[in-house]
Amino acid sequence: MIIRCITALCLVGISLAQDDLIAKTSKGSIQGYESASFDGTRVRIFKAIPFARPPVGDLRWKLPVEAQKWEGVKDGRKYAAACMSNSTTSSSPQNWVDEDCLYMNVFVHGECSEAKKCPIIVYFHGGGMNYDSATYFNDTALVETYASKGVMLVIPAFRLGFTGQFTVGDDGELIPSNLNMHDALFGLKFIRDEAAAFGGDKDDLTLMGHSFGGAMSILLGFSPLRKMQVPVQKLIVMSPGLSFDDPELNLRLSTEMIKRAGCTHAFKKVMLDCMMKKSGPELLAIQRTMEEEDHAAGDGALFGGILMRGPLFPFKSFPEMFTKAPKVDIMAGSTIGEMDFPETNTTVTRNSFGMYNGKFVGARNVEELDNLYYNLTTSGKNNQTHLPESQAIYLAVYLASRSIMQGGNKAYVYSFDQPTHHMHTDDLSHLMGIHLFEKDENEKEISQFYPQLFLNFTKYGTPSPRWKSMNLKDRYYSIAVDHETKRYPEMRDFYQQETIDFWLRKAPKIDKMITVTRAAGANLEWDKTKGGFRDLVLEDGEGERQKQNETLIPVLLVHTSYFPSFLLISAVFLLGVALGRYLLADSTSREERMWILGPDGRGIPVDKVPAYAEQMF
Ligand SMILES: *[C@@H]1O[C@H](CO)[C@@H](O)[C@H](O)[C@H]1NC(C)=O
Ligand SMILES: *[C@@H]1O[C@H](CO)[C@@H](O)[C@H](O)[C@H]1NC(C)=O
Ligand SMILES: *[C@@H]1O[C@H](CO)[C@@H](O)[C@H](O)[C@H]1NC(C)=O
Ligand SMILES: *[C@@H]1O[C@H](CO)[C@@H](O)[C@H](O)[C@H]1NC(C)=O
Ligand SMILES: *[C@@H]1O[C@H](CO)[C@@H](O)[C@H](O)[C@H]1NC(C)=O
Ligand SMILES: *[C@@H]1O[C@H](CO)[C@@H](O)[C@H](O)[C@H]1NC(C)=O
Ligand SMILES: *[C@@H]1O[C@H](CO)[C@@H](O)[C@H](O)[C@H]1NC(C)=O
Repeated sequence: MIIRCITALCLVGISLAQDDLIAKTSKGSIQGYESASFDGTRVRIFKAIPFARPPVGDLRWKLPVEAQKWEGVKDGRKYAAACMSNSTTSSSPQNWVDEDCLYMNVFVHGECSEAKKCPIIVYFHGGGMNYDSATYFNDTALVETYASKGVMLVIPAFRLGFTGQFTVGDDGELIPSNLNMHDALFGLKFIRDEAAAFGGDKDDLTLMGHSFGGAMSILLGFSPLRKMQVPVQKLIVMSPGLSFDDPELNLRLSTEMIKRAGCTHAFKKVMLDCMMKKSGPELLAIQRTMEEEDHAAGDGALFGGILMRGPLFPFKSFPEMFTKAPKVDIMAGSTIGEMDFPETNTTVTRNSFGMYNGKFVGARNVEELDNLYYNLTTSGKNNQTHLPESQAIYLAVYLASRSIMQGGNKAYVYSFDQPTHHMHTDDLSHLMGIHLFEKDENEKEISQFYPQLFLNFTKYGTPSPRWKSMNLKDRYYSIAVDHETKRYPEMRDFYQQETIDFWLRKAPKIDKMITVTRAAGANLEWDKTKGGFRDLVLEDGEGERQKQNETLIPVLLVHTSYFPSFLLISAVFLLGVALGRYLLADSTSREERMWILGPDGRGIPVDKVPAYAEQMF
């Protein structure tokens, strides 16, 4: 305490030299300002740093272009406009939006300098690429949590909504896909080239983000283009909303927008020319109206996320992406509640984002899997209590971490388990000074050490001496504090076990079973309302076809050699309602509880099945 006071006293009075408040980038100089944390630590703040040319006029819907050089000293003491958004979904509307928004903001410790460079955290904001901004965080918290602790925090903007995801359906020729992710990468290149001017060490670069920003941290982490262009050392991934979208969604929305703007035309080029002439506010108003009318698009926010497309994301599937781990360490986690909001119910939220979790394992029958899962859950056949959106978050955390661990780097996984506030964004109140709530004594303590974990990881590579990295038992750090019961953060095994078991272990088998069954010509029709197969055609040993009208729940495909050969070809599958009840009913997924259909039609435990039974795959 005494030492702290003395340090504070020492620092008060010693202001930074005026010269330190002007950063000299290769594009021009920028005037920042000085601020201090509660204990008097001096920090420097630079706002509205242009990292690309304003994407306006002819540059609307174009890839980001290098910023022009400027003469004199640019004023970096105020935020620039936020990127275009006006969503009904966000609880934090922006005061000032404009298409001219590609700026970044820097918060850096007073002692970081070109001679003494500090680790850099690049923070990507959330908001599903539709809202929130690089300018809406709480400066006091950013100074307290990051800059005064010896790092350089950079918050870059990227285009949102129609400015970032618009398409005329030409596969990216007239309007490149993933403009907003290109903005983000462009920002990283600027940081790589200019960080030293602000006191940042480009060779110690951590990408961090929450929600959609967490997904950006993963996506840029795994993008081959990013790997070629900007070396990154660490990723911090908080509650990631990771998804690749169907291009159809953005095409549908864009087409509707074109129609409302009066620009529909048979030639794409003419259509685009017409759209280029519309003002930003006019298009934003159309987007807003469409959002108000179209709740089917999800939670209200309109334009979808990222397309799985080169050059940023030249993958065929998530499994392919996750086999090519970047050489980085990762700290990733989720809150225990995430999207399990009590006011929503599973009927409403199922599939609301088209977030079929089967996509994470590259399943072909994602909709069927989702329905099956939903059926099992709502009918009480498994104990899973999390909604699909929450599970999508756990899966993204898990897959990114596991991939990086298997690539030989370290993965630090956490679950924010504080019972009092543990929903999506609640932990940001400890880190970014937003989504605030009144903290109880236990939560006040969390506010003290939680940010340290992120800082420690950034600065030293390890969040805490007590926190061990992920292993084959999916070890994670369970973060909660309750002084009464003496509950403190501790290591536990099996991060989100039920979700991982179902989607990563059972779902791929069921998916193959559905595919093979269909390929064999079985008349499988998925009954969405019942969540099972309708009118399943089973063949008996004599080749007789029996139509069953019961809804069947798939179990596990078995292939036994003593089936008549035509049966082998025409599929062997499946299982009945009765089996289904056992099956998959057990969320612990111990293999001996899995049942399959034996040749005589009775279920047999999987451990009695000959080994070759599964070799079909
Ligand atoms: C956002 O939309 C509302 C409702 O249409 C409108 O009143 C408001 O002016 C819009 N704000 C901006 C910044 O466009
Ligand atoms: C900003 O964060 C600080 C704590 O870091 C808090 O005391 C303050 O109330 C926050 N300000 C706003 C406007 O939320
Ligand atoms: C859940 O949502 C559906 C669709 O909006 C509604 O019909 C149903 O009553 C809701 N159930 C509960 C328990 O709120
Ligand atoms: C952060 O790291 C320091 C140095 O290793 C350690 O003393 C401290 O306990 C760590 N903080 C937390 C919250 O574990
Ligand atoms: C789930 O499927 C079973 C039949 O297998 C059916 O009886 C039940 O109504 C379904 N439940 C839901 C919630 O769809
Ligand atoms: C299956 O049910 C439908 C009506 O739901 C009925 O028309 C049909 O005859 C039934 N098929 C068999 C084989 O029982
Ligand atoms: C669900 O959990 C309860 C309590 O832990 C247990 O008794 C029950 O068998 C479980 N049900 C299933 C289907 O796993």
